[in-house]
Amino acid sequence: MEIRNLAPEWIPGAVELQRACFPPPFPVELLWHPEHLARHLEVFPEGQFVAIEDNLVVGSASSLVISEKHYQKHSDWDTTVSGHFLAAHDRNGSTLYGVDISVHPGFRGRGVGRALYEARKDLVRQLGLVRFATACRLPDFANSGFSDVESYVEAVVSGAFADRTLSPLLRYGMICIGVAHDYMDDEESGNAAAMLEWTP
Ligand SMILES: CC(C)(COP(=O)(O)OP(=O)(O)OC[C@H]1O[C@@H](n2cnc3c(N)ncnc32)[C@H](O)[C@@H]1OP(=O)(O)O)[C@@H](O)C(=O)NCCC(=O)NCCS
Repeated sequence: MEIRNLAPEWIPGAVELQRACFPPPFPVELLWHPEHLARHLEVFPEGQFVAIEDNLVVGSASSLVISEKHYQKHSDWDTTVSGHFLAAHDRNGSTLYGVDISVHPGFRGRGVGRALYEARKDLVRQLGLVRFATACRLPDFANSGFSDVESYVEAVVSGAFADRTLSPLLRYGMICIGVAHDYMDDEESGNAAAMLEWTP
């Protein structure tokens, strides 16, 4: 398995991968179309990564750089990235912001997500940025029996409960700084997300 920057030839595979990773009830209108990924390559090619094994895209991760002022507002997904074409990208900003990450279900638990995160951290160092930040889905919240997202996130952070997405991201060294309500239309996560940061 190799981590590379996204290139035009990997776009169809990355689009297909995302559909395999975000099945219903995740809203299909939030998923990438080829023209979105093509635009990401124009806007910020260094921030787009894929994991390739046997000529197949088995993982992908998109990011952009946002300004400090914009980051500190901790807005919802759409406002933070300014839509699917990542119009909020600001090369003079402070924060590498994770837009999405996907690892094919058949390739999970083998360190692909960790390798994509290492590539993101290397980019933060290379560009001299302040931090890597993202907001993480909580797909096991809906069936967890917890009535509020804050208690759920606290339980996952403490290790008392596992979430199939938040738990891996915490293993990569991401620190939870709070909960974002109404982050995106995401039924399984109660429309919320855990706000995460890493500083070099
Ligand atoms: C989250 C995701 C990217 C993780 O990718 P992955 O390649 O399977 O993760 P890794 O193999 O790097 O595993 C990372 C760590 O998390 C742990 N882990 C993995 N799944 C876990 C689970 N369900 N519960 C608890 N810990 C888990 C692993 O043990 C590993 O720890 P270690 O490296 O310290 O031993 C992947 O599951 C995914 O694509 N999910 C669906 C899409 C999604 O929700 N994306 C996130 C949007 S915010």
